[in-house]
Amino acid sequence: MKTLILAGGKGTRLWPLSRELMPKQFVRFLDDRSLFQRTVGRVLNLGFSKPDEIFVVTNKAYKFRVLDDIRELGLELPKENILLEPEGKNTLPAIYWGIKQVEETFGDSIVAVLPSDHLIEANEAYERAFRNAERLARGHLVTFGVKPTRPHTGYGYIKPGEALREGDELLGYRVDEFKEKPDFETAKRYVENGYYWNSGMFMFDTEVFIEEIHRHAPDVYGAFENAESVDEAYRAAPDISIDYGIMEKTDKAAVVPLNVYWNDLGSFDAIYEVMGKDESGNAVKIGSKKSEYIPLNSRNNLVMTERLTATVGVEDLIIIDTDDALLIAHRGESQRVKEVYKLLKERG
Ligand code: GDD
Ligand code: MG
Repeated sequence: MKTLILAGGKGTRLWPLSRELMPKQFVRFLDDRSLFQRTVGRVLNLGFSKPDEIFVVTNKAYKFRVLDDIRELGLELPKENILLEPEGKNTLPAIYWGIKQVEETFGDSIVAVLPSDHLIEANEAYERAFRNAERLARGHLVTFGVKPTRPHTGYGYIKPGEALREGDELLGYRVDEFKEKPDFETAKRYVENGYYWNSGMFMFDTEVFIEEIHRHAPDVYGAFENAESVDEAYRAAPDISIDYGIMEKTDKAAVVPLNVYWNDLGSFDAIYEVMGKDESGNAVKIGSKKSEYIPLNSRNNLVMTERLTATVGVEDLIIIDTDDALLIAHRGESQRVKEVYKLLKERG
């Protein structure tokens, strides 16, 4: 299979990390590997794609982050495989451009579409799910369903329907309903009724996908069809995610259940949970050799800092310190950080 990695998101829930051109996918939260590097590594280790079969769609502002990360892995991807968007128009234009590029390079292909900012356990169950999805993709737009643990309103929800088998083997289910980011009450009902969370990963056949774009997102299709340059296509394209633009509309969706550890690290609270801690429960990420964090009688804080920082007698704080912005939040409230970003954007 071919692989298309999405690495152009701004991560507004993680302001101000998103400033200074450092969105989540390029941050090294856990060790010396970024989430983007881990995504590439997973694809190669499991033998899903060879290096020249991996494509990356990112914003042109992140060009060197992507190139440096790839070089650091000791890899070389063909230059044409790194697609640099002139502006962010959300995931549907990004995926469509990427899929078209794969098709131009390799002809009709099966493509795994992967976000680059998740933490995932790549075990045998993961590999099997992908191989099942690959078999279903000839006739379906395949999603990967994660068992929900709570009524999270930041995810897509998938209602599984009729079983899809090959011989005796169960590969997945037809999707009866796909609903992106429902309100809390609806999400609660979905969790009680056996819906899955949409993991954000997909498996598409280029031909099937392009047909579905033509049918359900003619404005995206037309933007690329009528443009003479990528810049022009992006100017014309609407800002829309794959979830609203295609997955809610298509009747070709299938879901393959994914029973592995999956975490989209969508907030500082989620990031705190997965990071290593000192003996007082502080999770610390320091930016440079010169910076340091000195906790005095301070417990269970998340501290990311670029300079010498000390706290005295504080608990459960999120402190994100960058060159030109400082965030201090209470742990447990980091979902609301995106409101700060929105506010700043509205003020211009
Ligand atoms: N190239 C490019 N251009 N990539 C983008 C853009 C863009 O304009 N916008 C977002 N991305 C990348 C992000 O970096 C991320 O890797 C991926 O696309 C998904 O975008 P998010 O913005 O993180 O989406 P979401 O988390 O709100 O929702 C999606 O993921 C959820 C699971 O984490 C949806 O697919 C939900 O249905 C799903 O539950
Ligand atoms: Mg996300």
